[in-house]
Amino acid sequence: MSDNRVYIFDTTLRDGEQSPGVSLNVQEKVEIAQQLARLGVDVIEAGFPIASPGDFEAVKAIAERVKGPIIAGLCRATRKDIDAAWEALKQAESPRIHTFIATSDIHLRYKLQSTREQVLEQAVAAVRYAKKFTPDVEFSAEDASRSDLDYLCQIVEKVIDAGATVVNLPDTVGYAVPEEFGRFIRTIMERVPNIHRATISVHCHNDLGLAVANSLAAIMNGAGQVEGAINGIGERAGNASLEEIIMALYTKKAFYQKEVGIRYQEIYRTSRLVSSLTGMVVQANKAIVGKNAFAHEAGIHQDGVLKERTTYEIMKPELIGLHRSNLVLGKHSGRHAFSERLKELGFELAGEELDKAFYRFKDLCDKKKEVTNEDLEAIVKDEVWVVPEKFRLNYLYFASGTRLIPTATVGIAVEGIVFEDAGTGDGPVDAALHVVDKITGLSGELVEYKLNAVTGGRDALGEVAAKVKVGERIYIGRGVSTDVIEASVRAYINAMNKAAYDRDRGVNGRRIAVDDPAPENGQNLD
Ligand code: KIV
Ligand code: ZN
Repeated sequence: MSDNRVYIFDTTLRDGEQSPGVSLNVQEKVEIAQQLARLGVDVIEAGFPIASPGDFEAVKAIAERVKGPIIAGLCRATRKDIDAAWEALKQAESPRIHTFIATSDIHLRYKLQSTREQVLEQAVAAVRYAKKFTPDVEFSAEDASRSDLDYLCQIVEKVIDAGATVVNLPDTVGYAVPEEFGRFIRTIMERVPNIHRATISVHCHNDLGLAVANSLAAIMNGAGQVEGAINGIGERAGNASLEEIIMALYTKKAFYQKEVGIRYQEIYRTSRLVSSLTGMVVQANKAIVGKNAFAHEAGIHQDGVLKERTTYEIMKPELIGLHRSNLVLGKHSGRHAFSERLKELGFELAGEELDKAFYRFKDLCDKKKEVTNEDLEAIVKDEVWVVPEKFRLNYLYFASGTRLIPTATVGIAVEGIVFEDAGTGDGPVDAALHVVDKITGLSGELVEYKLNAVTGGRDALGEVAAKVKVGERIYIGRGVSTDVIEASVRAYINAMNKAAYDRDRGVNGRRIAVDDPAPENGQNLD
C-alpha cells in the first residue's frame, strides 16, 4: 500500500442505517451502493447479515450486483455470525469479512461479562475462522479509544498474527478529542511490532461533534483507512461525515499530502440520494452538502465573490457536482433539451421514466415562473421509482376551511385502472390519506412528516418526506408538488408502493435492532 493513499470505507448502509428511524429496503440499499461505487469509495459496508433476513438479503444483493469496491459485511466474533456474513458476501467481486468485539473494560465487564483473556482468545479465533473464507479480513476493537492501551496493543498484534489485514480502532462513543486520538493512533503504530502487515483504520462517532477532526488527526498519525457515512448519518449523533473528510483532504492537500480514489463530481448527488431515501434531511448549514454551504448572504461577501470567487470560497461547488441554481428550460423547451439537461445533472432517463418526468416538467412550467435545476432534480426523484409503481395518483380534490369538515376525493390508478373514493379527516391531508388507505387496502400511520421548500419564492416546489408505519415496518415516502397537500399525498402513496411491494413479496415482521450476544466464552472457533 502506498503511504500516501487513504482508503475510504463507507458504512452508510450499516452504521448509517442504524440511525433512529431509518429503514431502507433492499432496492434502496442497492441503489445507494451503486451510487457509492460511482463515487469511488474503496469499501462499501453493505450491512450486518445476521441482524435480520432483510439485512442478509441486502448484503447478498449488493455483493452480487455492485462491482468495483470491496463489499464488507459486519459480524460479531462468533462462528454463526461469520458464517452468515460469508454466505451473504461470497458472490462479491472482492468480499471482506468485518468481525468485531469490544475491548474496553467497561464493555467487558458490563456487556460481555468476559475477561480480557477470553476476549483476546475470541478475537484471534474469529479472525482465523474468517480467514478460511477470504484473505480480506478486518477486525474492529469496539470502544478501542476507551480500552486499556497495553491490552489493545496486545490484541492488535495477535489479530494481525492471526491474519487480519485491516485493524479498525473505533471511537465508538465519540469520546475522543483530536490531539488525544492522534496520539493514540501514533502510539499503536509505534508499539505494535507487526503493525506494517495491516492497514490501521479509524471509525469515529460524532457525540462531541469531533468525528471528522478525530478522523483527520488519525490520518496524520498513520491511519490508512477511514470509516464514515454520507451526510454523517449513524448511531446517535452519527458517524464521521465522509464528504467532509474527503473535501478536507482535497482542499488541504498541501498539508495532508494524501490521495483518495474519489470521483468528486458524485459527492453532491450521493448526498441527495442518501438524504431522500433515508428521509434524513441535511441541515442547511451542513458543511459541503448543506443548502447554504455555498450561499453568500452578506452584501460584502456577494460583492467579493463576484469580483474574485476565492475571496470567500475555499472550494468550487462544481467540483462536488453542485451546479449553481440557474434558470433552466421553460415551457417551450422540448423533450430533447429536457433530457440533455437531465444528463448534465446526472440523470440518464429513457422510455416511460423520461415520459413521466417530462410530463411533470410541463405541468410545473404552467404553475411556476422559473424552473431551476433543483426543481428538475426534485421532479426526477419523484418520478424514478426504486420499487414498481403499483399505485399512482391520478387526481386529487379537497375542500377545507374554518367551518368545513375537511373532505377529499382521490383518484388512484392501481396497476393502470383508476379507482375513486372520498373521505373526511382532521384536515385535508388526513382526509386524503384515509382515502388512499381505502383504495390501496393498506393501513398506514403517519409517524413523521417533513415539508421542505425546494427553492425560494411563493411558487416553490414543496418536498414532503413522510415516514409511514404499515404493519410493523416503517416506509419512507417522498413527494413533490407546488401544492403541499398534493406533495403529501404523493409522499404517502410512494410509501404505500414500498409497503405493497414488500407485502406482495411476502416480507413481514419488524426489523429488530442488533444487540451484542452473550459471548460464547471459551468457545474454540478453530
Ligand atoms: O462504532 C463502532 O465501534 C462500530 C463497530 C462495530 C465498527 O460501529
Ligand atoms: Zn459505529
